[in-house]
Amino acid sequence: MGHTEQRFLVTGGAGFIGSHLVRFLLSQGQVRVLDDLSTGTLDNLREVLSEVEFIRGSVADPTTVREAVAGCTVVFHLAAQVSVPLSMEQPVATFEVNVYGTQLLLEAARQVGCQRFVFASSAAVYGDSPRLPKRETMRPAPISPYGWSKHYGELLCRDYYRVFGVPTVALRFFNVYGARQNPRSQYAAVVPRWITAALTDRKPIIYGDGKQVRDFIYIDDLIQGIWLSATHPAAVGRVFNLASGARYTLLELLRAIEHAIGYPLQPEYQPPRAGDIRRSYADIRAIQQALGFQPRFTLAEGIRRTVEAYQKEAAAA
Ligand SMILES: NC(=O)c1ccc[n+]([C@@H]2O[C@H](COP(=O)([O-])OP(=O)(O)OC[C@H]3O[C@@H](n4cnc5c(N)ncnc54)[C@H](O)[C@@H]3O)[C@@H](O)[C@H]2O)c1
Repeated sequence: MGHTEQRFLVTGGAGFIGSHLVRFLLSQGQVRVLDDLSTGTLDNLREVLSEVEFIRGSVADPTTVREAVAGCTVVFHLAAQVSVPLSMEQPVATFEVNVYGTQLLLEAARQVGCQRFVFASSAAVYGDSPRLPKRETMRPAPISPYGWSKHYGELLCRDYYRVFGVPTVALRFFNVYGARQNPRSQYAAVVPRWITAALTDRKPIIYGDGKQVRDFIYIDDLIQGIWLSATHPAAVGRVFNLASGARYTLLELLRAIEHAIGYPLQPEYQPPRAGDIRRSYADIRAIQQALGFQPRFTLAEGIRRTVEAYQKEAAAA
């Protein structure tokens, strides 16, 4: 694959993960973004926007999707309705974006003959089964419309590969963190919420006892895994966990943030939230063995960089 011929489509490219992927891909070829700016912003692409072909529209619109995929060699499908609580309120709207949208993209990729189709799935497909660590061979048991929609998206990828030979790969992201993750949404993830609380002299809120276990993966490591899955021949037709393989409690995360900002934080404890998964972490041997994926960032280092990015952003605002 010569670099000059590579034309990438990133759906959801104005979002947190997409905006990092776009910056990386610009060093590898031409980049087009399809995003409806529902949770993402053009500000996330600020200094690279002039180098990107940006299409504002929905992945659930067939005409827009066909236009966006036309001429692309690799599709990175990251656009989604990403909120679990919102998916409980609006399952059908969630399915329209996450399932129908995925099928439209797969169909367009088939028509065009794309070399690779990378689908952003989620640890949510595992649901709350007590078996740990999560392995790709376990039976999916999602417990929310968001989780079901990602599971169905994976099945569509699998069958577009099996039946039509479209070279798909599905990646189950665990808890991703890094710069530009939105702290403002009511559904924001814990890392941006706590860092922003710390930097604005508010108390980070801990739901429950803080001993919940998660696998936090730093954005640069995630991008490495996404790129391997887009380029490595052994990725085709597979589903992989994409995570750090390490496990941390929320209290350890809080300590890493304290360490990075340089002073102690006084968290506020609130009752556990309904539907919160107690322990979730990944077995990453499959992607390590098949693609040579190797996470490079400890939580301490990733959090240090993330806090620094939020501090810079706050100083510039
Ligand atoms: N952040 C995580 O920890 C995590 C974990 C597991 C899976 N994922 C998956 O990774 C992907 C990216 O997530 P993120 O954290 O960057 O979230 P994000 O909300 O920052 O990005 C999603 C992007 O998709 C866009 N979008 C939403 N609906 C759209 C539509 N109908 N048409 C076009 N664009 C649309 C949004 O505007 C946004 O820019 C998602 O598929 C998400 O489910 C993320």
